[in-house]
Amino acid sequence: MKIILTLVALFGISSAAVVDEFLETLAKEAKVQDSSFKAFSIKRGEEIFTSKHIGKRGEEVSCVSCHGDDLNKAGKNFFTVKEIEPLSPKTNPKRFSEIKTIEKWLKRNFIDVYNREGTIQEKGDVVTYIINK
Ligand code: HEC
Repeated sequence: MKIILTLVALFGISSAAVVDEFLETLAKEAKVQDSSFKAFSIKRGEEIFTSKHIGKRGEEVSCVSCHGDDLNKAGKNFFTVKEIEPLSPKTNPKRFSEIKTIEKWLKRNFIDVYNREGTIQEKGDVVTYIINK
């Protein structure tokens, strides 16, 4: 039990460090694009995550369609009905532990919902929203 708790704590720390680095890089890029940029917003992130759009296969979907309302619980893929482990790093320490994985899924999932890649600002906002859920 103690070992498991220690592992969880270690993963927790490393994933927090990874996501901090990811967000810092995005914030620098956002500032280069728009000098009036101040910070990423949970509120804008929530709008990005919960609003519905005509996305993949012409279906009206949001990020919630696959990840669910409660990010601390498992979701279900809207298209394949496969279970998706919780997105919140608070309950799922595997989340946000690798920049490559975060980038890959943000790219793919923005295309699923928005039919385009997310902007730097949108990615920063939505990740800030998710890690605070
Ligand atoms: C069609 C279903 C679907 C939709 C819609 C969807 N996702 Fe995902 N998402 C997935 C799947 C599948 C994975 C990868 C499997 C896994 O990691 O459990 C994933 C993984 C992720 C990850 C990876 C996190 C990590 O480090 O493990 C992030 C971040 C993410 N999604 C954010 C979003 C955002 C933001 C949206 C809305 C723009 C969104 N998702 C919409 C299915 C979806």
